[in-house]
Amino acid sequence: MSGEGFIKTPKQLIIAGALALVTPVAIAMLGAHLVTGSKRIDPNESPASVEQRIRPIGELVKSEGTAPPPAAAPAVAAVATKPRSGEEVYQLACAACHGAGVAGAPKTGDKAAWAPRIAQGVATLYKHSIEGFKGMPARGGNSSLTDDEVKAAVDYQVAQSK
Ligand code: HEC
Repeated sequence: MSGEGFIKTPKQLIIAGALALVTPVAIAMLGAHLVTGSKRIDPNESPASVEQRIRPIGELVKSEGTAPPPAAAPAVAAVATKPRSGEEVYQLACAACHGAGVAGAPKTGDKAAWAPRIAQGVATLYKHSIEGFKGMPARGGNSSLTDDEVKAAVDYQVAQSK
């Protein structure tokens, strides 16, 4: 015997190849038959029985309004909507003009400039700050500010300028 292995001739190679293809299929068919062979489908089986046999294991049941709505995430909401302090808003949106008194803006801390404005009443100052007033842009030009944030910034400015 020279050489290793069983396959010596082309004929043996063809047989080996055919066996390699057929054997796994035959084993799979045999296995499938072993598992399902005893469960032959009865041609007279009733439709109800078929339904029962092939029904899904789990079913999704939708409750109609009985479950309470999921609670809103309070921590996240609180962070997202927490108003900025008057000083923060002032530094962010107002100081650019009111810090140095740019373009006729009454300078923060300039009591003489603020006295007649404060005399109008705080409601007017709020209104002018939120809606805009002559050279004063609405919300200082920062539309992301809430009314309360603008009011807090006005309060801060007024307190600094009395
Ligand atoms: C682009 C510059 C600018 C920015 C930014 C700005 N202001 Fe003004 N503001 C002005 C000017 C100019 C006036 C004066 C308007 C006038 O009376 O002619 C003014 C006036 C005011 C007045 C007095 C209004 C009145 O009725 O007399 C208040 C209060 C005020 N600003 C608050 C704020 C607040 C609060 C912010 C930030 C949220 C802010 N401003 C941001 C320019 C600015």
